Amino acid sequence: MSSRVLSYGTRAPALLAGAVYAVAPEQVTNIFEPLSTPAHSVYRAALLALAVCAAIFVTVVALLVYAIVRFRRRPGDDASEPPQIYGSNQIELAWTVLPILIVVVLILVAARTIADVEGYPQPPDALKVTAVGRQWWWEFRYPDLGIVTANELHIPVSEPGRRQVTFLTLEAADVIHSFWVPQLAGKTDLIPNRVNRMWIEPKQAGTYLGNCAEYCGTQHAKMRLRVIAHSPEEFGAWVASQQRSAAEDPQASIGREIFFSTSCVNCHSIQGTSAKGTFGPDLTHLMSRQTLGSGAAPNTPEKLRAWMRNPQAIKEGCLMPDMQLSNQELDQIVAYLLTLK
Ligand code: CUA
Repeated sequence: MSSRVLSYGTRAPALLAGAVYAVAPEQVTNIFEPLSTPAHSVYRAALLALAVCAAIFVTVVALLVYAIVRFRRRPGDDASEPPQIYGSNQIELAWTVLPILIVVVLILVAARTIADVEGYPQPPDALKVTAVGRQWWWEFRYPDLGIVTANELHIPVSEPGRRQVTFLTLEAADVIHSFWVPQLAGKTDLIPNRVNRMWIEPKQAGTYLGNCAEYCGTQHAKMRLRVIAHSPEEFGAWVASQQRSAAEDPQASIGREIFFSTSCVNCHSIQGTSAKGTFGPDLTHLMSRQTLGSGAAPNTPEKLRAWMRNPQAIKEGCLMPDMQLSNQELDQIVAYLLTLK
């Protein structure tokens, strides 16, 4: 497990470092380092809005400082009022028309950016993924590949001369969530009983960090996600490994029995077994994931055991209950889960 998984906890120094050095996608997320076509469009529109706001800010502050210095009270001033100006058409027109023009320009640029991104036609070779927002984790389904996974979206990277776009169908199982990976695209909400769409096109291989961006309940903050962009070959290997049924290691048969005799199977699926629950994340390839609890903890054997002992201690309010397992049962179930590579 590399240290970048912990970057959530050390964001401030990492952000400072990010300001100085070019940011690789996996280090820390940054809206000013777009690495995907839609994120580039959003970035350009945002820069324009920032530049306009900065110009207004500088102008207002400069006039204010000038007025404060130039017209400050001096010894020997009489107490009389300066000349008062009422109803100057020129001044009133200037401060009405100018802001309207600025706002209209910003509206047009924003509308054009949104139309360009949303209107982008889905190429026939686009990878299709359905993302389902749930309290408080992400389900990723690849309908054409027969893969179901959670919290970590694996996609191919887009290379010059070999563009590869991923189109996401966004759904919600309970409340409104929002899919946001700042370096890949703007936010798009996942809304119950409605289907939204968005697309991403990472230009660099690596891990992109994201987060649910719409308050969705107690553990909204621990509804993190990561997008892992692979070279085409690496992605092919990942697909092949995910398409395999769950490993069945005879060494872990006791843990396996305990797992299948508890209510774990009511909420979790393990492909190729009788566990068909759909309420919680699919566990078929649990150990291929970097984190537990949608980014709440790194996926290490110790954390996995702590999670199984009491998920509420790591992610208070999460919908997985404390299963009240004995130490021995814990060890055996964890030993089984560790075989789900
Ligand atoms: Cu899901 Cu906030």
